[in-house]
Amino acid sequence: MARILITSAIPYINGIKHLGNLVGSQLPADLFARFHRARGNEVMFLCATDEHGTPAELAAAKAGKPVNEYCAEMHAIQADIANRFGLSFDHFGRSSSPENHKLTQHFAGVLADQGLIAEVEEEQVYSNADGRYLPDRYIEGTCPNCGYDKARGDQCENCTKQLDPTDLIEPRSAISGSTDLEVRKTKHLYLRQSNMRGQLSEWIESKGDWPVLTTSIAKKWLNDGDGLQDRGITRDLDWGVPVKRGAEEWPGMEGKVFYVWFDAPIEYIACAQERDPNDWERWWRTDKGADDVTYFQFMGKDNVPFHTLSFPATILGSGEPWKLVDYIKSFNYLNYDGGQFSTSQGRGVFMDQALEILPADYWRWWLLSNAPETSDSEFTWPRFQEGVNKDLADVLGNFVSRVTKFCRSKFSEAVPAGGSYGAREEQLITDLTARVRAYETAQEKMEVRRAAAELRACWVLGNEYLQEVAPWSTFKEDPDQAAAQIRLALNLIRVYAVLSAPFIPTAAGHMLSGMNTLDMSWPDDVAQALNALPAGHEFTVPEVLFAKITDDQREEWAARFSGTRD
Ligand code: 2FM
Ligand code: ZN
Repeated sequence: MARILITSAIPYINGIKHLGNLVGSQLPADLFARFHRARGNEVMFLCATDEHGTPAELAAAKAGKPVNEYCAEMHAIQADIANRFGLSFDHFGRSSSPENHKLTQHFAGVLADQGLIAEVEEEQVYSNADGRYLPDRYIEGTCPNCGYDKARGDQCENCTKQLDPTDLIEPRSAISGSTDLEVRKTKHLYLRQSNMRGQLSEWIESKGDWPVLTTSIAKKWLNDGDGLQDRGITRDLDWGVPVKRGAEEWPGMEGKVFYVWFDAPIEYIACAQERDPNDWERWWRTDKGADDVTYFQFMGKDNVPFHTLSFPATILGSGEPWKLVDYIKSFNYLNYDGGQFSTSQGRGVFMDQALEILPADYWRWWLLSNAPETSDSEFTWPRFQEGVNKDLADVLGNFVSRVTKFCRSKFSEAVPAGGSYGAREEQLITDLTARVRAYETAQEKMEVRRAAAELRACWVLGNEYLQEVAPWSTFKEDPDQAAAQIRLALNLIRVYAVLSAPFIPTAAGHMLSGMNTLDMSWPDDVAQALNALPAGHEFTVPEVLFAKITDDQREEWAARFSGTRD
C-alpha cells in the first residue's frame, strides 16, 4: 500500500470560486485522491481557505463585517459548496488557524537562525484617513507617461508602464479616495532566497518527470533573474499572522504581519495539524515516518512560481526534515465563452450557481474531460451540452438503463442464470482489460483528459458489445445465451461504477446501490470482475442516471450567464 499526500492550492477566502478555479486545482486533486483510495492506497488529501492579505480585508469591509467574522462565514460557505461538489478533502482547514500562526512563526524563526532573513528599511505610503499603509496597487493617480487618471501604484493599466507609487501624479487612496497620504519609513523582513539559487536549481533539474508547464515556469523564474530576488515576507496590515521569531517578539516588527504568500503554503502542513494534532507528523516529517510518503501538489499555472521556488526555499532553508513535494501538477486556464472567467468582474459560472442548475457529476465530468492541461481550454454552452448528452446520457446512462430494464422485463430483477460466456465475451474481456490498464496508467500519471477518454472508451466497449450480441434478438431463439449476455452486462455496470467513481461519485453510488452491492473491488482481473455478481443476485432498476440537456435549457443558461454577477 502506497502513502499518498495530496494538496490542492488553497482558494482565497474572498468570494465563491468559479469553474475555472475549480478545474485548475481542487477538482483534479479530488479525482486523484479518489482514484488512489479506490486502489487501496492510504491518502491524505488537504485543502483550506487562504484567508490573509488585503483582498480579504477589503472584502470584509465591503460586506460591512469584522474580517475574522467574514472569514469564518466564508469558510463555512466554501466548505459547504466543496462538499456538495463531492470534493473529498480529509480536512478543509483555514490559513488563519492557531496552528498556522504558530508554524509560520516557527519557520520565520528557523530561517532567521539559518541567516536567511534580512531586515530592510523601506519607504511606504501611509494614508492618514484610512489609518493604514497602502499596498502599491491600492494607490491610484494619474499616469506620468500617458495621463490616464486611474493608474495604479504598481502599473498603469492603460499604457502598461510599470510604476512606483511615488511616480503617480495626484496620488490618492483607492480605498477611501483620500489624498492625505505621506511617505513613511518602515522596516520589513526579506527572505534571502537568492542565496538558495544553487540548491533550488539542482532540485528542479532533478525533476525530469514533471509536466513541461511546471518546469518551464520554474526555470523561467529561476534563470531570468527577477524570480529569485530576495522577497519581502512581511506587511503593514492588521489582519494576518503577527511577525514573531518563533515564540519570541521580533524587535522592530511590532504591529506587522507576514505576507499572505509566506503563510499560505505553510497551511498545507498546519492543515494536517488542525485535522489531528497526533497524526500529522507521519505525513510531514521525514524523521517521523513521512520518508515513504509521495507528495503531489495541484494548482493553476499562476501559482507555480510560489510552489517551485518560494515555498521550497522556506522548507529547504529551514534545514529541518520537512517533506518536500515530489510532483507538481499544474493547469492552464479555462476560459468562458470567448473571454476569461473573472472573479472581480463576476464573469462566468460560479460553483454555487452551477449546482443550482445541475448536479455536481455533470460538471465534474465535463470539466475534467476538458481540463486545460496542455493549453487553455474553453467552456461554451453548446460544448457542455454535447459532452454531457453524448458521454453521460447516451453512452453510460443509456447502457445502464437498457440492460436493467431489459432484464426486468424478460427475466426478473435478479441476475439471470443459464448459458455461458463464449468467444465474443472473451474478446470483450481482452479489450476491456487493455482499456482498464490504460485508464490506470493515465490516472497514475495525472493525465486527466486521457483518463476521461479511456474511461469513456470502457463505456463504449459495453455499448458495442450489447449492440452486437443484441440479447433482445437472441432471447427469442436462445434465452440461455441471452441470460449469459445480460449477466455479463449487469456485471459491467458494477465495474463501470467502480471505475467511474473518481469522476462521477454520486452517479457511481446510484449504480452500485441499484446493483445492490457494496463490492467496490477494483477490476484488477477483468474476467473475475465480470463474475462478481452471481446468478440470482437481486438488483433494482436505477432512476435515470443523467438527463439530457435540452436546447431550451442550453439557451436559457447561456442567456442567464452572459453578463456579470450582481
Ligand atoms: O491563487 C490562489 O488562489 C492562492 N490563494 C493559492 C494559494 S496556494 C498555497 F500556496 F497555499
Ligand atoms: Zn499610462
